[in-house]
Amino acid sequence: MNYRHAFHAGNFADVTKHVLLVRILVHLLRKEAPFRVVDTHAGIGRYDLAGPEAKRTGEWQGGIGRLDAPFGDDVEALLAPYRAVLDATRERYGRTVYPGSPAIVRELIRPSDRAVFVERHPADADTLTGRFNATANAKVLRLDGWTALGALLPPKERRGLVLIDPPFEEPGETEHALARLAAAIRRWPTGIYALWYPIKRGPGMDGPLARFAASLGREALRLEVLVADPAGRAGLAGSGLLVVNPPWTLAEEAGTLLPALAARLAQEPGAGFRCEALRAAAGPAHR
Ligand SMILES: C[S@@+](CC[C@H](N)C(=O)[O-])C[C@H]1O[C@@H](n2cnc3c(N)ncnc32)[C@H](O)[C@@H]1O
Repeated sequence: MNYRHAFHAGNFADVTKHVLLVRILVHLLRKEAPFRVVDTHAGIGRYDLAGPEAKRTGEWQGGIGRLDAPFGDDVEALLAPYRAVLDATRERYGRTVYPGSPAIVRELIRPSDRAVFVERHPADADTLTGRFNATANAKVLRLDGWTALGALLPPKERRGLVLIDPPFEEPGETEHALARLAAAIRRWPTGIYALWYPIKRGPGMDGPLARFAASLGREALRLEVLVADPAGRAGLAGSGLLVVNPPWTLAEEAGTLLPALAARLAQEPGAGFRCEALRAAAGPAHR
């Protein structure tokens, strides 16, 4: 268990994931009925981009560091709640602090909604508990995120989101994650599910996602931003979010947001985006 998110916080993958996370939460907030959020791989909730870990990689400079200049009005309208969470975090904790998924969730949910943040790393779970256990509607569990999926689903609410954001450091983690996701959907079929995945050189997600989609029998979106051509790069070239039972608004919103983010976050030729309904016939490739 070597992965520490502090080295990567605020990078292009975090920004893409968090922008989409906020859009899903905005959708859930439109209805009065309370909802549940389960964050199975939560991290420590907020990160100091001036701290030693973030400074060592400098990854945030290619992510949140590129978002200062405004986009066009249509993009800014969709980014506004994400920017509001950034502003609130910076005001409370300092200009150099970037919010992780628990901070974003806690900032946006209402007192009637509930969130559970799961983290397995002992020190990170302690940090997260110190930061997030104080509010009545948020709970931190030091637990294996995959075990939590079995234990926490279904919640009493019909609506909600399960964010699954593993580090993908073990071989075979993609197949494992998709199998656990399928089992979770069977336990709580009405929830929205968002699984983050890395895009790197190699066999990629086409095969696993096609097999997953074939057995899914429900709607799903494949949303990706590439900052480089995976074939020409040893490290992370992009990241994706597989969203099952997506809000009906998300495909259109992603169609506005992802091209703008891909253009802004691009690092090398081959950058682009994908916004594809998984059960549809072969959609557009990366552009
Ligand atoms: C990519 S980071 C999470 C980032 C966070 N979701 C965010 O968006 O701010 C992945 C986290 O999962 C934790 N982790 C790794 N394996 C885990 C497991 N089996 N169960 C729960 N957490 C795990 C790591 O310690 C790390 O903090």
